[in-house]
Amino acid sequence: MTRKLFTQLVGCDVPIQLAGMPGINTIDLAAAVSNSGGLGMISGTHMSPEYLSDTIENLKELTSQPFGVNFLMPFLDKDCVKIAASKSKLVEFFYGDPDLSLIETVHKGEALVCWQIGSKKEAIQAEKAGCDLIVTQGVEAGGHVRGNIKLSSLLSEVLNSVNIPVIAAGGIGTAEDVAEVLKAGASAVRIGTRFLAAKESGAHPKYVQAVINAGAKDTVLTETFSVGWPNAHHRVLKSCVEEVNEFEGDIVGERDLAGVKKPIPKGSIALPTKETTGNIEAMALYASRSVGVVREIKSAADIMTELSKEI
Ligand SMILES: Cc1cc2nc3c(=O)[nH]c(=O)nc-3n(C[C@H](O)[C@H](O)[C@H](O)COP(=O)(O)O)c2cc1C
Repeated sequence: MTRKLFTQLVGCDVPIQLAGMPGINTIDLAAAVSNSGGLGMISGTHMSPEYLSDTIENLKELTSQPFGVNFLMPFLDKDCVKIAASKSKLVEFFYGDPDLSLIETVHKGEALVCWQIGSKKEAIQAEKAGCDLIVTQGVEAGGHVRGNIKLSSLLSEVLNSVNIPVIAAGGIGTAEDVAEVLKAGASAVRIGTRFLAAKESGAHPKYVQAVINAGAKDTVLTETFSVGWPNAHHRVLKSCVEEVNEFEGDIVGERDLAGVKKPIPKGSIALPTKETTGNIEAMALYASRSVGVVREIKSAADIMTELSKEI
C-alpha cells in the first residue's frame, strides 16, 4: 500500500529511485532507469542553467518517462532550480535545512519536491516546509552522509513522525534489501552504489574496477576528501584514503567539468569520471557497503530487474 504512494505520485511503475550522483548519472543511465519503470535522476549541481537545460532536453530524447533533478544545497544555483522545476517531474535537495522559498519555487514550476534527510528532526522540518516526499538516508550510504543513524532505526523513527511518502536509502544492494525496507513501510528505495558499475555509468574505468574489487567491509566514513566542501563526512572506499595519504604533491589530476578542464587538488570532493585524468585511485571513490554485491559491469536495465525481483 505505502509503496504505491511513491509510484502513483511520481507516475512510474517500480518503486526504485536512482540516487543523484554528479558525473556518474549520465543521461543514458537516468533514461535506462526511467525506461525500466523506476525514477531516473540527473544531478543539476555544478552546471550552468544553459547546460542543465540542454542536458534535460537531451534526456527527454531518450525517455518519455518521469525523471528528476538532484541539487546539493552547498552549491545551489536558483536559476538551475527554476529550469529543473519547469522541465522535470521531481526536484530534489540534499545537505541543507529544508527551505520554504525553494519549495515554493519548485511547486510554481509544477514539479514535486523531495528532500534527502539524515534525522527525524530534519524529516519533520521537510514535511512542514511543504515537501511532497522525503528520502531517509541511513549512515550506511555511499557519498556524503547527512546523519549518523542506521537506516532501519531512522526509517522507523521517520515513518512514525511524518505522513508524506518516505524513500529509504543507504546500503540497499539486493532484491532482499529492497523487499525488507518496503515491508518496513518505505514507499520506495533509493539506490546509488549499485549503479556505479552500470554500463551507462559515467564513472572512470579504474573507479569501476575498484568498486568491483571491494568487499562490503572495504568502505569508511571519513572527512578525507573535504577540499571544496569542508566539515561534511562521506563514505568512500578505504583504498582511496590509503592512496591519497601516500600521494605526494598538491594536484592529483584533471577533470572535465561541463567542457571546462580543471585541476583536482589532493583531497578534493571531485570523483573521477571517464574524462578525468591523473591518479584515479587517490581520488574520492564514493561507495557504500552494498559495494560488496557489485561484481561485474551490467546494464542498468539488468540491475533494475535484479533489484525488483521480490517487490
Ligand atoms: C558516487 C555518489 C555520489 C553521490 N552524490 C550525491 C549528490 O550529489 N546528491 C545527493 O543527494 N546524494 C548523493 N549521494 C548519496 C545518495 O543520494 C544516496 O544517499 C546513497 O547513494 C544511498 O546509498 P547507496 O550508495 O548504498 O545506495 C551520492 C552517493 C554516491 C555513491
